[in-house]
Amino acid sequence: MLTPSQTTEAAERLGSGIGEISDYREASRPGWTRDVFSEAYRESRQWTLQRMSDAGLEVHTDDAGNIVGRLPGMNPNAPALVTGSHTDTVDGGGRFDGIVGVLGGIEAGRQLRESGTSLGRDLLVVDFFGEESNPYGLSCLGSRAAAGELSTGDLDRADYRGVSLGESYSRFGLDPAATLGSHWARSIPLHAFLELHIEQGPTLEQRELPLGIVTGIAGIQRLLAVFTGSPDHAGTRPMTDRADAMVAAAEAVLAVRREGCGAPNHGVATTTRLESESRSPNVVPSLVRMTSEVRSVDADWLSGAKGRLAEEIRDQARQHGVDVDFTWSTDNEVVQTHTGVHDTAARVADTLGIPWMPIPSGATHDAVHMATLAPMGMIFIPSKAGKSHCPEEWTDFTDVATGVTALTQTLIALDHTELPRHV
Ligand code: GLV
Ligand code: MN
Ligand code: MN
Repeated sequence: MLTPSQTTEAAERLGSGIGEISDYREASRPGWTRDVFSEAYRESRQWTLQRMSDAGLEVHTDDAGNIVGRLPGMNPNAPALVTGSHTDTVDGGGRFDGIVGVLGGIEAGRQLRESGTSLGRDLLVVDFFGEESNPYGLSCLGSRAAAGELSTGDLDRADYRGVSLGESYSRFGLDPAATLGSHWARSIPLHAFLELHIEQGPTLEQRELPLGIVTGIAGIQRLLAVFTGSPDHAGTRPMTDRADAMVAAAEAVLAVRREGCGAPNHGVATTTRLESESRSPNVVPSLVRMTSEVRSVDADWLSGAKGRLAEEIRDQARQHGVDVDFTWSTDNEVVQTHTGVHDTAARVADTLGIPWMPIPSGATHDAVHMATLAPMGMIFIPSKAGKSHCPEEWTDFTDVATGVTALTQTLIALDHTELPRHV
């Protein structure tokens, strides 16, 4: 355990690391933008490699672009412990989402090494490649590849410029075919995965708690709805005789919101984009595309929401004389954290005297995909005013240091804990 002055040093080191990596950003975009495949991201990854190496980790980059720092344990053949997160951001994002889990993992490795604490097994600290959802509509590229969940079809997905994901990998210096082959299950047996992350919501701050131990991670259903009405002169077509695709889409935006508001337990529903094909201001819109997503940790509600929304949106559109087509895609299913990992983190927090609460995650994480490889858990620390995916994202460095203490001690405890795969 750290002394109070070592904790202050750790908070300062974490704070300066967060400041340094934040300087790698796309100057033309708001906030601390570091998109996957951007030059800013490419350059920041050199910084991350160096940071891992300075902490005494043996570093390599795998075929999927994941940066892996290894702290050797006493038995290199024992299934490894893994921690980590991501250092890419959303457009206009902040300085803490993902970054805290990577710098926190490196700090945990440093503290274990400097205190002479040997784990029985290797500790791998990972900066997963491209976690945030991207123009290809796919999140968690690196952890998906590690889990063997990235497919050839995914590499063929094209962005709005017609550039495929595979081509973007190549331009970034990664071999897309090798990316598909970097399934960790074939080569690296794992004992457990534990990710430190900011909460990204207001609950911990409102309850004045420094720690959340995650119970489950929301599933995400994405919807593309295409509304087809009829083009007409906006000045002459009577209001009672129109097939206005924009009006049908507007009704749908509100239906999506109502669905989220009606969730009995945990559920949210958001429309993020409406695009009209009509360029002229004087034509009744005839083709509108709507992009929405629905999330919940309650799998039954989530699958029910798809049916309810489709019915309501179709009914409303019909009343406006508009046709609608739906394409649903699953970004990820609901994933529960492993009881053994959760309970170990809870016991550690109690022993350390850190107050905590069980908490669901509405955001998705690399942990979703790592859960297919190993028992998985997550630790949350508070987000100021619950703000995230925006430049205002903030967590006090002392809170980050507390999270790192909980992470490090839980990793030590997990090292000796048997974790049956079925819970
Ligand atoms: C990632 O941050 C997500 O939850 O979309
Ligand atoms: Mn994140
Ligand atoms: Mn994010």
